[in-house]
Amino acid sequence: MTAQLEYPDLQDSEALLSVQGLWKVFGPKSGRVPYRPELAAMSRARLLEQTGCTAAVRDLSFDVAPGEVFVVMGLSGSGKSTLVRCLTRLIEPTAGSIVFEGEDIRAADEKRLRTLRRSKFSMVFQHFGLLPHRKVIDNVSYGLEVRGESKPDRRRRAQEVIDLVGLTGNEQFYPEQLSGGMQQRVGLARALANDPDVLLFDEPFSALDPLIRREMQTEVVRLHREVGKTMVFITHDLSEALKLGDRILLMRDGAAVQLGTGDELVGAPADDYVREFVRDVPRADVLTLRWIVRQPRSGEELSGLELGPDVLVREATRQVLESGHPVKVVSDGQLLGVIGDEEILAVVADRDTTPSPVRASPHSARTGEGAVS
Ligand SMILES: Nc1ncnc2c1ncn2[C@@H]1O[C@H](COP(=O)(O)OP(=O)(O)O)[C@@H](O)[C@H]1O
Ligand SMILES: [Mg+2]
Repeated sequence: MTAQLEYPDLQDSEALLSVQGLWKVFGPKSGRVPYRPELAAMSRARLLEQTGCTAAVRDLSFDVAPGEVFVVMGLSGSGKSTLVRCLTRLIEPTAGSIVFEGEDIRAADEKRLRTLRRSKFSMVFQHFGLLPHRKVIDNVSYGLEVRGESKPDRRRRAQEVIDLVGLTGNEQFYPEQLSGGMQQRVGLARALANDPDVLLFDEPFSALDPLIRREMQTEVVRLHREVGKTMVFITHDLSEALKLGDRILLMRDGAAVQLGTGDELVGAPADDYVREFVRDVPRADVLTLRWIVRQPRSGEELSGLELGPDVLVREATRQVLESGHPVKVVSDGQLLGVIGDEEILAVVADRDTTPSPVRASPHSARTGEGAVS
């Protein structure tokens, strides 16, 4: 979704959700770990060996912009579920701050937390978490019932979101009568019914077959376009992350390795771990022209064509190869450089080109943090 959405520069005040120095440590006397420099600096394995504590989340800081799809990606055990549960304090953080819509979440009492979880956050889980003895319509309206809304209001709202997620006609079925993909649509509808400010997804499609999974990803992209909700989406799947994420936070052993747009992770991996992670991605599908533009050579003849820096290499391939001469890459009337057959073919043939991105748009300036570890 990166290409369609433009955000203003992310100032603190504009973040919907701001996480600073977040830690979750499990184990004996876990509370001291973030505050004792010699413990905080230890690798996860070493810390476990020396203290019996697991640093599930280690010193994470990031902001999520309103309307953004923020993906947290990492292998199993990297701390994703712990992180997303810390955000609503289903798991109590060990240290750090969480500010949501200007409110200090860590200072909220139990009553306030319940209200927040009912009205501001909705979660979609891997194993759907549907109530087996309730029909689809009653699963979807459950949250509204808990909130004390009247039956006609609940029904109306539930039907609205059931239609929105493509479940029309299935209202009277029980969950077990539906396929996995359909059950997760119920999960989506239930999350949307509350009209939350942010949707939290914890690997919602991991249990689904690959085809259904892709269909559900497309569904999330469509829903995001239609309802524009802020989403924090957890996944271990890189192609899912690239498809959905405006930005991606890559975690390893509880810590952040890199935070950036998909093209930044692929085009400028922060370290060998990220490089290995993104190695098999078809680069032409992810990299944009800004990553491969070069300065014109003296006396070089240019074609009449002009392309923008955010065009995907895949989309520009034919035009550039057919033009006969290098094509200009122009942003806001300013010539950033040119792209010829060589540059295109290097990406299409998947040769590492050590790209040098031209950081001209507000979009790339905003997301240009690079390595965060
Ligand atoms: N309640 C717990 N007690 C002890 N260790 C835990 C607990 N929950 C998670 N962990 C550990 O924290 C690490 C991160 O787990 P998790 O957040 O579930 O990762 P992910 O969701 O990325 O697979 C793992 O090493 C896991 O074993
Ligand atoms: Mg998990």
